[in-house]
Parts: sequence; structure tokens; C-alpha cells
Amino acid sequence: MAQLWGGRFTGETDQLAYEFNASISFDKRLFSQDIEGSIAHVTMLAKQGILTPAEKERIIEGLEGIRGDLDAGRLEIDNKCEDIHSFVEAHLIERIGDAGKKLHTGRSRNDQVALDMRLYTRAQVRETDRLLRDLLQVILDVMEENMETYMPGFTHLQKAQPITLAHHYGAYFEMFKRDRQRMSDIYRRMNYCPLGAGALAGTTYPLDREFTASMMEFAGPTLNSMDSVSDRDYLIEFLAALSTIMMHLSRFCEEIIIWNSNEYQFVEIDDAYSTGSSIMPQKKNPDIAELVRGKTGRVYGALMSLLTTMKGIPLAYNKDMQEDKEVAFDAMDTVRNCLVLFTGMLGTMKFKKERMAESAMNGFTNATDAADYLVGKGVPFRDAHGIIGRLVLYCIEKNTAIDRLSMEELKAISDKFESDIYDAVSLKTCVEKRLTAGAPGPAAMANVIQKHKAYLQESR
Ligand code: ARG
Repeated sequence: MAQLWGGRFTGETDQLAYEFNASISFDKRLFSQDIEGSIAHVTMLAKQGILTPAEKERIIEGLEGIRGDLDAGRLEIDNKCEDIHSFVEAHLIERIGDAGKKLHTGRSRNDQVALDMRLYTRAQVRETDRLLRDLLQVILDVMEENMETYMPGFTHLQKAQPITLAHHYGAYFEMFKRDRQRMSDIYRRMNYCPLGAGALAGTTYPLDREFTASMMEFAGPTLNSMDSVSDRDYLIEFLAALSTIMMHLSRFCEEIIIWNSNEYQFVEIDDAYSTGSSIMPQKKNPDIAELVRGKTGRVYGALMSLLTTMKGIPLAYNKDMQEDKEVAFDAMDTVRNCLVLFTGMLGTMKFKKERMAESAMNGFTNATDAADYLVGKGVPFRDAHGIIGRLVLYCIEKNTAIDRLSMEELKAISDKFESDIYDAVSLKTCVEKRLTAGAPGPAAMANVIQKHKAYLQESR
């Protein structure tokens, strides 16, 4: 297939240079965006009297024919053209003849590729938001069912204070909700149309950029033609947001891997999301969680790669920018797959609630509440802290727990202890008394869950 720019050249492109330059192997996934942009462009050209209505009809018919054939698999994108833009144009000319040669009037591949990538990314932002919403729904379902499922809360991976499973999952709800907010921020900022910027300096044709922008549901045209063809900020922002999603998924996976370990046994990952060992018959490994954790690195890599590509590029378009695609596509594919798999794994995971409660009871997670109990009996907090510290040491020596000590043992350490201590340091009391907004107490949790439900309703 001929190149689009043969006229000025007398020599042939070196074969390796041609292949090095070509982007069709990866930008072929932009075909549908490329055709959508061309249809909008041609419609506008005819409205402005730059093409005749008949030419417009022929071109659109040709473009739709190509799209139909590509969708149906009747036409295959081979490597004979250097990029998807040349492919579509060459096939159009082949199909409809001379009218096809007018498609590129008042347009450059620079604004064309800027538009294609923006359309593709915009759809990915929407899709990511939808997948995050599915994940939030699964998290919220678990929260509603587990407001009284007790477990230890950790700091430094040491048992700290008792919480509930609903509260723990609630932390992830906040993270993925912020991720969705980032999607809508990015969407709002990026939703301006670069088509009509030309190569860098607009064109001398009377294009109606407002019209093409609204045809493709953009908020309006971009306002500087140099920036239009060389801006990849929206992609960097999206990759940063995808990196943050992966960071959140990776933290969650790390916890699930720990909870699923032989030592913890808080959860059981469903067989559908576990794998076995080729040699050790007893094994059921959390590979999906480990892979999601592992794939976080390549998404961070895409962000670093594009930031580095962009840092030295003078205005306006330079071919370096073709390097945005492979890394960005890989990151988008990776995050989509990870979100789908993670949501599936989370929705089928079983909790071993007795193990979790048992673990919360065994690690002195009620020590703070025991100190607060003494404060209630008039002991200054610092003294109470010291008394309970000695009590914990005693328990460790005797291999027991605060709530399993006898009244005499308690009295021996402080005469302020009364029989109401047992209720005061029970798991249920420890959690129920945590009523501050955002705390695990059932009243506080019920309030938050109501808010989350309303949020998921209104942000479909
Ligand atoms: N394949 C190119 C890219 O991805 C398309 C734009 C080419 N423009 C140019 N002047 N060579 O950036």
C-alpha cells in the first residue's frame, strides 16, 4: 500500500526504518475512533461548503462500509500501511475513488491522532468508572452483612484494636470512591476536541470546530492549536489515576494473601480464583491476588514512561509522542482485567468469622478499652496505661487474656477493677462503644452504609 506522503521523496524508505516508524501493529485498535472522527470531519466540511453533499455521502458510506467490514471480520488490518490513519484513507480511496482523496482536506494526522487517542481514552475513563462501581457494590454488600463480624484491626501488622469486617472494607470503599471521583475529574478536564488544530497552526479552510466538537459530545473545541496536537496531559492524568487504582488493589490483595495464609485463615478464596501446585498436593495458592499485586508495577511503569517521553518535547507534534500508545494501552488493558478479576474474587471469597473473632480476642486488642475503663473509675490515663501494661505482661506470662483473669488477679494489680470490667472489655462492647463518625460502632457504620447506598444510586 502506498504511503500518504510519497510526493516529496525520490528514494525508498529503508525497510528497517519503515518498520521502526510504523505504528499500525498497535494503533489499529483506534480504527473505530478514527472513522468516527473522519465522519464528523467530513460532515462539517460539507456543512461549510468545502465538500459537496454528494461527496460527503459517498465518503461516509465508504467509511461506514470499512467499519462494518472491520467489525464483522471481513476486513483485516494488516501491516501494509504505516498507521491506522493511512489504512482507513487508503481503503476508502480504493473503495470510492477520487471522492476519498478529499477526506483529509483541512486536517493533519497530528490533530487526527490527538482526537483518536482522546476518544479512545475518554471511553476507557468511562469503562474504568463502571468497573469501579461494580467493585464498590460488592464491597458494600459485604459491609452490610458484616457489621458485627469482629476482627482485629492492625497497626504495624500487630493487633491493635477490635474492628468489624464492615469497617475494614469501608476503608477500601473510600479509596475506590476517590478513584471514581478522579475519573470524573479527568473526564471533565479532557473533554475538549482537538480536531481542526491541523498540523499545529490551524487551517485556512473555514472549519467549524464547535460543530465537530459537539458531534462527538465534547464540551467544546480546544483553544490553542499547538497545545491541541501536543497535549498528552489527560493521558498522564489517567495513567496516574490508574496507578492509584492499582496501588489500592495491590494493598487489598496483600491483605487477602495474608488473611488467606495458613497462619491467619480469616478467609477462603474460592476455587475459581485459586491455583494448585504441580508438586505439593496440599497447596491452594492465591495466584490471582498475587498477580494483581504484581501487575501494579507495569502500570506505574507506563506512567513513568510517558512522563519521561513528554519531558523533552518542544512544541508542537514530534514523533516521540507515538510512544504514548503501547504503554497506555497496556496499562488500560491491565487495569481492566485486574478490576474484573479482583471483583470476581472478592464477591466469592468466604469469611471464617469465628477465626476472625478469636483472633481479635487473643491479641490484647481490648487493652485500650481496659485503660479507658480505669479512667472511668477516676484513674488518670497515663497511670491507667501503666497499670494495663503490667496486666498485659502478667497475661503473657500466664498465657491468658485480660477478660479471662479472675477478680483476685485483677484486684492484685489495681483495686479499681470491679465485676463490670468483664463487660467493659468484651469484644462487643469494645466495638459498640466506638461511635464517633467514621468509627466501627454499629450506629456509626449504619449511617455510613446509608450514605454509600445513596451514592451508588445517584452515580450510576
Ligand atoms: N502514528 C502517529 C502517532 O501515533 C500518528 C501521527 C503521525 N503524524 C506525523 N506527522 N507523523 O503519533
